[in-house]
Amino acid sequence: MTATVALPLAISPPHVSKHTLPWLPSPDLASQYPVLRHLLSCTSMHHLRQIHAHTVTSGAFRDPFVASRILSFAALAPGGSLPYARHLLSRIPDPDAFIADALLRGYAFRANPLDAVLFYADALDSSVPEFPSPHTFPLLLKACADMPSLSLGEMIHAQAVKFGLASQTRTQNFLVRMYATCGEVGRARLVFEGISELDDASVNMMIGGYMNCGQLQKARSLFDEMIDKNVISWSVMINGYVQCSLFNEALQLFQEMLKEKMEPNESVLVNVLSACAHLGAIEQGKWVEEYIRRKKIRLTVRIGTALVDMYLKCGFVEKALDNFNIMEEKNVTTWSAMIGGLAINGLAEDALQMFAEMQTHGVPPNEVCFIGVLNACSHSGLVDDGVKYFYSMAQVYGLQPNVHHYCCLVDLYGRAGLLDKAEEVVEQMPMKPNSAVWGALLNSCKIHKNPLLAERIGKKLLELEPGNSGRYVLLSNIYAAKGRWADVAELRRLMKERGVMKIPGSSFIDLKGTVHEFIAGDGVHPQKSKIYAKLDEVSRKLMLAGYKPSTDQVLIDMDEEEKGSALFHHSEKLAIAFGLINCDPGTTIRIRKNLRICDDCHLFAKVLSKTYNVEIIIRDRSRFHHFKNGACSCMDFW
Ligand SMILES: *[C@@H]1O[C@H](CO)[C@@H](O)[C@H](O)[C@H]1NC(C)=O
Ligand SMILES: *[C@@H]1O[C@H](CO)[C@@H](O)[C@H](O)[C@H]1NC(C)=O
Repeated sequence: MTATVALPLAISPPHVSKHTLPWLPSPDLASQYPVLRHLLSCTSMHHLRQIHAHTVTSGAFRDPFVASRILSFAALAPGGSLPYARHLLSRIPDPDAFIADALLRGYAFRANPLDAVLFYADALDSSVPEFPSPHTFPLLLKACADMPSLSLGEMIHAQAVKFGLASQTRTQNFLVRMYATCGEVGRARLVFEGISELDDASVNMMIGGYMNCGQLQKARSLFDEMIDKNVISWSVMINGYVQCSLFNEALQLFQEMLKEKMEPNESVLVNVLSACAHLGAIEQGKWVEEYIRRKKIRLTVRIGTALVDMYLKCGFVEKALDNFNIMEEKNVTTWSAMIGGLAINGLAEDALQMFAEMQTHGVPPNEVCFIGVLNACSHSGLVDDGVKYFYSMAQVYGLQPNVHHYCCLVDLYGRAGLLDKAEEVVEQMPMKPNSAVWGALLNSCKIHKNPLLAERIGKKLLELEPGNSGRYVLLSNIYAAKGRWADVAELRRLMKERGVMKIPGSSFIDLKGTVHEFIAGDGVHPQKSKIYAKLDEVSRKLMLAGYKPSTDQVLIDMDEEEKGSALFHHSEKLAIAFGLINCDPGTTIRIRKNLRICDDCHLFAKVLSKTYNVEIIIRDRSRFHHFKNGACSCMDFW
């Protein structure tokens, strides 16, 4: 697992609370140096330059204390300027460690982290008194972790030892963080075990380190052993689970956190909402919304956007809109979530209207917005509009379309059956088409039944991504549809030879607050026999109503005679049967699938929605399918 986890920070970023701002004078000093009082109200470099000029003409700048405050502002304040701070440094006759650390902090938090290390070398060269200080190494190690650079990190470690500053807990905590971030979790553990005065931050850094390296078990056991877990410990674990896609684990731990009367803060709530969105865990998502209301937590841009996104991904467009409308502060990310979410819910017109509205609110679109806009167009066949939007990116908004936008354009033409146009885009795009672009073209061949082109692209994709099981399955489906069993067998052999594992299809259904997961051919669910019996009954009834299993999409390692029954045990069918057994009559069955829904399950759900008079909403990897009265909201256009 290679997900990167944001490790906890024990260093305060350059803007925390007004009382700790290093450039602000205390009241005593402010009366001694009246010019420094202006720093209290200084909010821009423009203003700072005036203050600086004033101190130069009055001679106050010659006082190192005054100079250091002005420099700290430039280095650390939001809207400051590091080059200006660096320039000031050259004007200060005898800079001290306080000043050097201020600049270092600015580099470590604001600029390219390498600049922090380079500045350290300069400061050593110019023999700044008292430098390096106890504050120096945590900053440098943070910079090395951010790069990340193991070799520089090792060098800084050696420097810390040389200056006798390597045995401080704070420095050691950042050594743990640096080694773990550079993938050296064993060495992180060695440092961790050598810390004589462990604090909470040490343990949290180590837990985060394990998470970062995908060693979730070790992270968990360290966490479980902790006697005084603080909010950060819980946050690191929950956020780590989400980054590693263990969404159920994240939600379980979140419940435990609340039982311990811990107050989750913004980052936990955002991660939990993201887990709900992935799982389609609408009950828990609603619960988080209530929690936010009850605790009067401010709907910040991050929380509000996560809430809107969660509702859209669970198919609750109204609720998403409600939250969107009450958000006082939104940015382009919020608008993009809304536009993209409306698009996957099949509401293309609304998505495009939202795009226009965003601009009347004075928010210029970014690249991500256009993905939503183009998706909206391609999922509803608005080819001309889509093409117009695509070209407007560069012509009107000065945004260069990237490979994802080209992928949308291919999809747009391809879905509409303009395969020649789609192929032309692939041939003429300015960057190398990636597998997603070929995948979009292939999908269009499938929809519009062009097996020759499909086979060519299928082979190309196999070359591009020999480790992706989905590519083998697709190509084998193409062969199977034409009865080319020898080719299917050859693919199967290739897969085995290369050790490629299939990603099992799995579906999630949220029943009264508990998420149930089903895997194709599942034999572990406690209601297993009831589910299979129901599925048999349903299948028979649907066949009478005109459903005919389409066996041309089958899993690659299934033998011919198994095909019929394998198809019946696709995870979404199991989830539907489970839903029919357990949901109260009249409720909509909501399912979340990890892969794209197959033709057969799509037909199955359509016929079922009419025969059983139920609504079913399935969100697959690319969009929502809302089945009602024998039809699907995607109009069989996916
Ligand atoms: C989350 O909580 C921790 C510990 O209380 C705090 O240090 C951190 O700044 C908080 N993060 C956010 C985004 O509020
Ligand atoms: C929107 O705001 C959130 C939260 O402040 C931030 O994380 C995100 O980067 C912002 N998006 C853009 C594009 O600036």
